[in-house]
Amino acid sequence: MAALRLLALTTLASALTISQINGPKYLSPYAGQTVSNITGIITAKGPNGIWLRSPTPDRDDRTSDSIYVFGKTFGANLTVGDAIVIGGKVEEYRSNKDYVPLTEIASPVLERKISSGNEVSPLVIGKDTVKPPTEQFSSLDGGDVFAVPNNVSLISVRNPTLEPKKYGMDFWESLNGELVTVKKPTALSKPNNYGDTWVVGDWKVTGRNKRDGLTMTNKADANPEAILIGSPLDGSSNPKTTKLGDELAEIMGVFTYAFGFYRILPTTALKVVQSQKQALPSATSLTSEGKCDGLTFGAYNVENLWTQSAHLPKVASHIVTYLKSPDLIFVQEVQDDNGETNDAVVSANQTLAALTAAIASAGGPQYAFTDIAPSDDKDGGAPGGNIRVAYLYKPSLVRLYKPNPGGALDANEVLDGPTLKYNPGRIDPANNAWTASRKPLVAQWEVIGKKGKGEGSFFTVNVHFGSKGGSSSLHGDARPPVNGGVEDRMQQAELTAQFIKAILAKDRNARIITAGDFNEFAFVEPMKRFAGISGLEDLDEVAGIQDVERYTYLFDMNTQQLDHMYVSAAVAKKGRKARYEHVHINTWVDSEAQVSDHDPSVAKLDVCV
Ligand SMILES: *[C@@H]1O[C@H](CO)[C@@H](O)[C@H](O)[C@H]1NC(C)=O
Ligand SMILES: *[C@@H]1O[C@H](CO)[C@@H](O)[C@H](O)[C@H]1NC(C)=O
Ligand SMILES: *[C@@H]1O[C@H](CO)[C@@H](O)[C@H](O)[C@H]1NC(C)=O
Ligand SMILES: *[C@@H]1O[C@H](CO)[C@@H](O)[C@H](O)[C@H]1NC(C)=O
Repeated sequence: MAALRLLALTTLASALTISQINGPKYLSPYAGQTVSNITGIITAKGPNGIWLRSPTPDRDDRTSDSIYVFGKTFGANLTVGDAIVIGGKVEEYRSNKDYVPLTEIASPVLERKISSGNEVSPLVIGKDTVKPPTEQFSSLDGGDVFAVPNNVSLISVRNPTLEPKKYGMDFWESLNGELVTVKKPTALSKPNNYGDTWVVGDWKVTGRNKRDGLTMTNKADANPEAILIGSPLDGSSNPKTTKLGDELAEIMGVFTYAFGFYRILPTTALKVVQSQKQALPSATSLTSEGKCDGLTFGAYNVENLWTQSAHLPKVASHIVTYLKSPDLIFVQEVQDDNGETNDAVVSANQTLAALTAAIASAGGPQYAFTDIAPSDDKDGGAPGGNIRVAYLYKPSLVRLYKPNPGGALDANEVLDGPTLKYNPGRIDPANNAWTASRKPLVAQWEVIGKKGKGEGSFFTVNVHFGSKGGSSSLHGDARPPVNGGVEDRMQQAELTAQFIKAILAKDRNARIITAGDFNEFAFVEPMKRFAGISGLEDLDEVAGIQDVERYTYLFDMNTQQLDHMYVSAAVAKKGRKARYEHVHINTWVDSEAQVSDHDPSVAKLDVCV
């Protein structure tokens, strides 16, 4: 004991290096201690402090040789390139308990200025550092960042030793405080309200799609190789119109952690060098045959649509131009007739009439529609909006089979035939699983035409599962991160799947199409259970869509798929040539041109008996 204490004193007396302060873990071994005689060269200055790099870097990949020195006026008389000796207090700072703490030196005291005009050159990421890991975020995720249960451990408590070659967060943590360069950056996101934009440099990545975005893929790979670019140090602002796949000018900046993410604060604003050549996606290639062996099905989350929505005509135009007016459309997020006015109005007849009229005036067909208004304020979403799912359909081609619409509280049942007790009707609306969430709408349809050969009939289930609100950051303290609402979606997926299973129990050749906003990825537990219980097949699989092209949404660094179609074996059967396309009309454009936060999709399916 005595010997150890003596050793510690000796270490302190003979000047700590910055890498010793950082140490090989997330938290500094000196956290809370007052230190002095710390030598560093100033690499950058910010509004509230400076970044300091050790003149004697160690050769340990785990320990950053740089650190942030927090002090509002501390840098006033200092310049980049000055070599200084300082003292201060080592702190682990975070503005929110769900974030990873940032090691910094606070209450700095300038002990000595040694020299000025020293050269500071940035570390080129992937060249002067180890390569950014491309799949795993943290050793605490147990190999799957989406594993359930979530939040089994906290980085701030477990304080794991960094393995920068294996884990993305460990890699970024090992660079905290450093001045770095990102060569040949590509934008992976639209900027958020602060102009923060996700990028990837010229290092090796996984999940790259044809648009040069990074897609979350089936191997629990949520792309830790991406990094966020935050506010520029010179007080300028990042552009607001950056788009997915934009080529950017080289970025130099300092590494930090703030607001839940590792990020680079660039010395000056991001600059777009070139956008993707094809600005807008092509329209779907899938068009209707007008009979049961080739009907087209659209699916579109139209983001809080109501009669007065400025985006209503644009949604209509997307349906006509990009989706080529599918025969039946699964729509989600339709608000009641007076939108978010929080009164007793729940009917969406006027909203849906406005949408179908706009489609007709955009050159599309005259659609009919069906939905079931929810009980007031019971289905979640924007307060007062009473969002629900709805169907638009071409009444000359398909119609509800023996229509008998249920009410908001009527639980649908599968009757012999099979037919439905309510057509359309909601699934188990009183079940707690649907508290403050949309109930799926089940319908049975017949294709209008000759009976006998070519006769078509099918079931549809239109879903909008509970949202991911309340999720924690992929770079957050909780590991695996909190996937907000996952327990609700698990139950919702099970109830929906049980209903589908009951149809198939009465007719294993039933043609069933389930589509909508599942608010979940195909490879995460709720969707695995949904597929497992229902026996339906993921249409992306059936149609052979490449993993990296499976996306309908852009969130943080990832193009990702929240909207899916699942079909029964009778529809998926080989000879039936099921086809499916995601139309990236919203993920590809800038924020201003975005009409909904989701991309729509179109399928072409054979539903003949
Ligand atoms: C400061 O550090 C230097 C080595 O960098 C060492 O020679 C000196 O003794 C230290 N001074 C104090 C007061 O600890
Ligand atoms: C900067 O220098 C000025 C003039 O010497 C002095 O008055 C001021 O206190 C210094 N500021 C800091 C933060 O050291
Ligand atoms: C994770 O769990 C801890 C308790 O172990 C809790 O304090 C924290 O708030 C949770 N984090 C999130 C994001 O829910
Ligand atoms: C909405 O339309 C349905 C079907 O035509 C009708 O039964 C219902 O009464 C309408 N609701 C309102 C409030 O007009």
